Amino acid sequence: MTKPMLQVALDTDDTATALNVARQVSDVVDVIEAGTLLVYQDGMDAVRNLRALVPDKILLADVKDADAGGHIGKVCKEAGADWMTCINAATLPTMINAQKEIEVQVELYEGWDNMERAQQWLDNGITQVVYHQSRDAKFAGQTWGEHDLQEVKKLINMGFKVSVTGGVKPEVLKLFEGVDVYTFIAGRAITNADDPHAAAQSFRDEINRIWK
Ligand code: 5RP
Repeated sequence: MTKPMLQVALDTDDTATALNVARQVSDVVDVIEAGTLLVYQDGMDAVRNLRALVPDKILLADVKDADAGGHIGKVCKEAGADWMTCINAATLPTMINAQKEIEVQVELYEGWDNMERAQQWLDNGITQVVYHQSRDAKFAGQTWGEHDLQEVKKLINMGFKVSVTGGVKPEVLKLFEGVDVYTFIAGRAITNADDPHAAAQSFRDEINRIWK
């Protein structure tokens, strides 16, 4: 079993803050994410600046693309991203066109649980999905539990590389013990911490403890 990677989601309001956090945690994380909230504010400048700061890290542009996949994929790639996200509601042609430009992760929100559709993603070379609990669902009281574990396992058994995100804290990771999670994605637990490096390290320590 491979050890899950650790990704920091930089959903900050400006690029300067994102760069400040990225600088502090880049030695601990595997993947740096220009978060959706950041991209809404600063667009591809955020991606370009992060790429300049961390030339050797995997960089994700979390654009949650819904249409014009080829165009948006090219824009993300040219800004320096390695991966971009498409929302699960995007059409198959949108995802295929994006995937021709850059590696796509499908972010799973409402209504994704159609296995025929998910199989089409795989059949077209889209192998990454992000199992997501949304920020607003979490504000409404959603927590991580057995249902999520079963859904993640189902996707892994189909052949997907599955990343897990949404209000994830180090104590959530043990729910997935023995499961081949591709990446744990943590945002606010790191970016809002007094010491982002220590917060990222606590995720890393928990990954190392559980996935030996
Ligand atoms: C928001 C996202 C976030 O990047 C993701 O949920 C991780 O952030 P947090 O740990 O703060 O929930 O995709 O749409």
